Amino acid sequence: MAIVNTKDLLIEAARNEYAVGAFNITNLVSFKAVVEAAIDKRAPVIIQTSVKPAKFFGSNVLVAIYKELAGSAPIPIAIQLDHCTEVEYCKQCAKSGYNSIMIDASKFPFAENINKTKEVVDHCHKIGNISVEGELGTITGVEDQVRIAEDQSQLCNPDQAVDFVKQTGVDVFAPAIGTAHGVYKVKRPKVDFERLGKINQLLNSGGVKIPLVVHGGTGLPEDYISKLIEMGGSKFNVSTELKHALIDATFKYISSHQEEYDPGKVDIQVRDAIYSVVCHWMELLSSVDKA
Ligand code: 13P
Repeated sequence: MAIVNTKDLLIEAARNEYAVGAFNITNLVSFKAVVEAAIDKRAPVIIQTSVKPAKFFGSNVLVAIYKELAGSAPIPIAIQLDHCTEVEYCKQCAKSGYNSIMIDASKFPFAENINKTKEVVDHCHKIGNISVEGELGTITGVEDQVRIAEDQSQLCNPDQAVDFVKQTGVDVFAPAIGTAHGVYKVKRPKVDFERLGKINQLLNSGGVKIPLVVHGGTGLPEDYISKLIEMGGSKFNVSTELKHALIDATFKYISSHQEEYDPGKVDIQVRDAIYSVVCHWMELLSSVDKA
């Protein structure tokens, strides 16, 4: 039960009006914290890694840890490569055993985005039960390989979204709707809820076929989250908040224990900090007790 297909996980969520958190981990401690939170909250979860940690640790190593932690967990857990701009690296991670891949060719012209995304979809579907997420429009901010300035961001056109999904065969779709990677500059950022609702209506009105992703989870006001779920968002990506929890907990502990050289104690602080962030998100996404 624990190792699952991402698309199925998200369709189940969309049908039952909750969403699944996709949390970007950066090391073994954050990996463990997310899995422990999900088990304790009995919530389905997606472990996400951006390209940097995948290359640093090795995609095979991360998949081995995933299989070990998820294989025995009493809840569904998927592992996804996030925002990968390189087609060949997407294929490599699929071969390593990621059961979900995001090819991000959104910065390319429409036709090129379709070609690159379709190449990854065809490959992943040929080699296994691997879900592919594609993106249309561009999401402001920095997420590892991807940097988009505010004046270059472009929201997803709903009619093009239908074309994109049809022509690429993606399993899961991420439309740019005004959310952003990193910390929002304002308390209530301008998010186009109606655009998400319209895309959902065009793609999923006869029953959920293509789950929709909300990127840029960190800092979204809580009332936005329930509204985005209502509009069809069934996967929420959260990265920056986990990175902040990791760095802040490390800094806080080391600052007050300058004579101590016990990394295990730092790990516990980091685990606890990330665990709390993830538990809170699971409440916000209404995914508690849904596993
Ligand atoms: P945040 O870093 O803003 O949480 O966004 C995460 C994300 O969308 C990863 O794809």
